[in-house]
Amino acid sequence: MKATAVAPANIAFIKYWGKKDDLLRLPANGSISMNLDKCLTTTTVEFDKKYKKDSFKMIGGKVSIKECRRVSDYLSRFRMMAKSKLFAKVVSKNSFPRSSGAASSASGFAALSLAASSALGLNLSEKELSILARLGSGSACRSVPSGFVEWLEGDSNNTSYAHSLYPPGYWDLLDILVIFSGEMKKTTTTEGHKASRETSLFYSLRVEKAKELLGKLKKAFIKKDFESAGKIIESDCINMHSVMMTTTPPLFYWSPKTLGLIKKVYEWRDEGIRVYFTIDAGVNVHLICKEKTGREVVKKLEETAGIERIIINKPAVGAQTINQHLF
Ligand code: PMV
Repeated sequence: MKATAVAPANIAFIKYWGKKDDLLRLPANGSISMNLDKCLTTTTVEFDKKYKKDSFKMIGGKVSIKECRRVSDYLSRFRMMAKSKLFAKVVSKNSFPRSSGAASSASGFAALSLAASSALGLNLSEKELSILARLGSGSACRSVPSGFVEWLEGDSNNTSYAHSLYPPGYWDLLDILVIFSGEMKKTTTTEGHKASRETSLFYSLRVEKAKELLGKLKKAFIKKDFESAGKIIESDCINMHSVMMTTTPPLFYWSPKTLGLIKKVYEWRDEGIRVYFTIDAGVNVHLICKEKTGREVVKKLEETAGIERIIINKPAVGAQTINQHLF
């Protein structure tokens, strides 16, 4: 009863920030994302009677007791569905730095939901898997379907899930993830979603605006209108961070390096380079451009100080099972 799955992290173009139901992780607004082909989590799960409790290991990383408990509680959902009492061994590995601003919880829970359900012989649909991934970590539901993905806001457990808007090959966009050196530890998103809803002056305003921008981004996708898409992506990113910064206590995810790069992006655009930025709950910056602009952007980044590494992502397929197990 062993299975292995690979799932990509995703970058949100219209963000999810704030829930209307904390327990079910129902988002306050729908969101749109792109799966990242170089930011992958691989997870092997084995349920067996030889295990006396659940165990969880990350290859090349440490996991806290809290994280182990979260994984074990999550596995219990699958045990319940399969009417199984077996414990499991879980081993995971990321192809990217864990707190790089490419949400490892998204790829992590998407890979875990597929590996756990496959190991138990549950034959779940993409929609069912997306719902289960959402219950692990909200944005993980978007790492289940392929390519460019929309998470439908929904109003119940069964109506809030992600589906593919377009396959990976639809649009030749790149996400150049810029990772800064000397990065600080971030505030967890679980706490942040709630604090912003309860305390930010701009919370409701941003949710309404995000719904409007989501409609506009879908239209830009239909026309493959990169300028419009880029402006919308940046706009929702700034709106979300405004909400974060006006939360009590304030959530400043940006560092001086983050802001420095934002200013550079504006300069580069003035020079005619078509590149836009977006940032999740961390200091690192995702630069969105078309494939043909990638080389120019990388050259500019090479001339920029303070960068530890960059990861150039193309749109990726969603969660998949594979035959090579991690143990
Ligand atoms: O899935 P969570 O609870 O880690 O929230 C992710 C929130 C953002 O990454 C900031 C935005 C998003 O939509 O991915």
